[in-house]
Amino acid sequence: LAITNEQKNCQWRIARRPKGNVVAEDFLYHEEEIPILQDNEILLRTLYLNLAPVMRMYMSGESIAGEKGLDIGDVIHGRGVAEVIKSNNSNYKPGEILQGQIGWQTFKSTEVTERERFRKINNCGLPFSIGLSTLGMTGLSAYFGLLACGKPKKNETIVVSGAAGGVGSTVIQIAKMIGCRVIGLAGNQAKCDLIKELGCDEAINYRTEDIRQTLSNLCQNGIDIYFDNVGGDILSASLDHLAQNSRIVLCGSISEYLHDKPYGLDNYTKLRRTNSCMQGFFIYNYSAQFDAAEKDLSSWLKERKIKPVEHIYDGFENMPKALSSIYDGGNYGVALSRIRHGLNDDE
Ligand SMILES: NC(=O)c1ccc[n+]([C@@H]2O[C@H](COP(=O)([O-])OP(=O)(O)OC[C@H]3O[C@@H](n4cnc5c(N)ncnc54)[C@H](OP(=O)(O)O)[C@@H]3O)[C@@H](O)[C@H]2O)c1
Repeated sequence: LAITNEQKNCQWRIARRPKGNVVAEDFLYHEEEIPILQDNEILLRTLYLNLAPVMRMYMSGESIAGEKGLDIGDVIHGRGVAEVIKSNNSNYKPGEILQGQIGWQTFKSTEVTERERFRKINNCGLPFSIGLSTLGMTGLSAYFGLLACGKPKKNETIVVSGAAGGVGSTVIQIAKMIGCRVIGLAGNQAKCDLIKELGCDEAINYRTEDIRQTLSNLCQNGIDIYFDNVGGDILSASLDHLAQNSRIVLCGSISEYLHDKPYGLDNYTKLRRTNSCMQGFFIYNYSAQFDAAEKDLSSWLKERKIKPVEHIYDGFENMPKALSSIYDGGNYGVALSRIRHGLNDDE
């Protein structure tokens, strides 16, 4: 199956509900005519599509963040980056690059509704995959989670879990730029090497090391900020090592995704003795400030102060296989599929 068809809109739809990890039979390949533009619509040509663990939940019909669950036969939900190739909408011009809800398809026509949360992407001279990484929801989550909730100061010690993932890899780089001492946790040696390359002063392999002991050794004056992507035992271990007035940022709880019952955190009272504060955030609650954040993030990218960390799979035809492989933990940074080569892309 080679999908290089520029004459048709190629789609991946849900064939059946996945049981456990996704397999080829869960996906249905479908081709249809490229949509004809109506008033106010734009036509998008897909360049990149995001791959995220949440997609299995979409395919299972679960309602995520209050949205209606998907049915069998629906195009799989997902954010992507695309080029405007035709426009009947005065706000968009052919040649502009957008990120937003595209779904697993190679073309999309849309009136650009609020629900799709489309945004134009600045040209930083980098491949436009940055619309899914540093300049996408991942980079924005790192930005607001760290700066608005974590409030880092120079020389503070910050511990980041899920450090080799999309959000974590950006948090590390911003924290280093501010002058923090950064300790990252990751699940294998290659990922520990990667986070050190990104600037981590220390890397902890949480699968092979005793997390509590290592945190005691490395954080003798306590943790000032714990940026939590995973929840569970790593969150609990961090609570046992807080400095005075520390901040815990609740970004995600990946370690709990496969458990039926939430982890019972029994040491949250450690916040009391240290005057510490635990704060959750939801990225879309910051949307009024996205433009300002994007300005900062794109200048840091241009100045090479931070860089995108992306795990790129190639080809629309390989998306089902690529999605199944992200559940085995082998990928790093933001996982995405390149559908077509675009401007600034290395061929
Ligand atoms: N609050 C918000 O608005 C917001 C916004 C964006 C994302 N999030 C959440 O933030 C979290 C991080 O997002 P992301 O895009 O960076 O995720 P990601 O790239 O998919 O993964 C982050 C890392 O977590 C690690 N991990 C997986 N299972 C683990 C476990 N059982 N224990 C410890 N670590 C584990 C993996 O690395 P290892 O191999 O090293 O384990 C993975 O690289 C997710 O939970 C996401 O839902 C929240």
